[in-house]
Amino acid sequence: MPVEPLLPDPLLPDPLLPDEERKRLVAQFAEIAALAGGLAHEIKNPLSTISLNLELLIEDVSEGDSPRDRRILKKLLSLQQECRRMGRVLEDFLKYARAGEPELVPSDLNQVVREFLEFYQPEASANGIEISPHLAADLPEVRLDAGLFRQVLLNLALNAQQAMPRGGIVEIQTRHRDGRVELEMIDNGCGMDEKTLSRIFEVFYSTKPAGSGLGLATVKRIVEVHDGRMLVDSAPGRGTQFTISLPPAHSSPPP
Ligand SMILES: Nc1ncnc2c1ncn2[C@@H]1O[C@H](COP(=O)(O)OP(=O)(O)O)[C@@H](O)[C@H]1O
Ligand SMILES: [Mg+2]
Repeated sequence: MPVEPLLPDPLLPDPLLPDEERKRLVAQFAEIAALAGGLAHEIKNPLSTISLNLELLIEDVSEGDSPRDRRILKKLLSLQQECRRMGRVLEDFLKYARAGEPELVPSDLNQVVREFLEFYQPEASANGIEISPHLAADLPEVRLDAGLFRQVLLNLALNAQQAMPRGGIVEIQTRHRDGRVELEMIDNGCGMDEKTLSRIFEVFYSTKPAGSGLGLATVKRIVEVHDGRMLVDSAPGRGTQFTISLPPAHSSPPP
């Protein structure tokens, strides 16, 4: 299923929009984005103070063993869990916001994948995930922000891992096809039905109890700032395949 933009992006030139109107929309968009980013930062600081104090309280109460202490401890632990969830959503939100500011440099995608695998391998093993990489030898360079792209790989891999709670295989492939550089991530996990599939790139859409729903929205945004395209193929019970295709950094000389 090719991925269509979910909302008109005011940063993309719209031939039907007068120049003045477009400038106004771009300015408005930038203002709202800055406001949202600022708000997230403002919440982050008090949240870490709250979390730290909760931790101290938990330590204190853990020492007592009266029924009252146990009741308080239970409530504090549930507060701590909610704070962690809020922290994760804020982190994911800030990552989403930062995805719009890439630093693109001609890079070897295979190298970025190798570095990611080295970092992700322990987490994969701990969750019964076997990674099967097939990296093409003849890959042309692509213009990449390696930091942002590692985030793409991590978000896709974590989703694959979460789709296979009892473990499984994640295939990661790179190839040079039709003048473009492709990356595939395939899992044999739970897969998705049509209804889920139609919403996965929406911000805050999640089918997981503690999901932020920002992972794939961030992936999509990062792929777009790389001039990339994305395809998804999935079926319930059969697994999921994400394909990202990027233009090569240097256009090949005419034959
Ligand atoms: N590999 C996958 N297998 C099955 N479902 C997936 C996969 N990747 C994404 N999804 C679905 O897409 C939804 C959105 O994913 P994402 O944006 O990463 O948010 P989150 O992981 O926080 O739920 C998930 O909740 C899940 O339903
Ligand atoms: Mg996710």
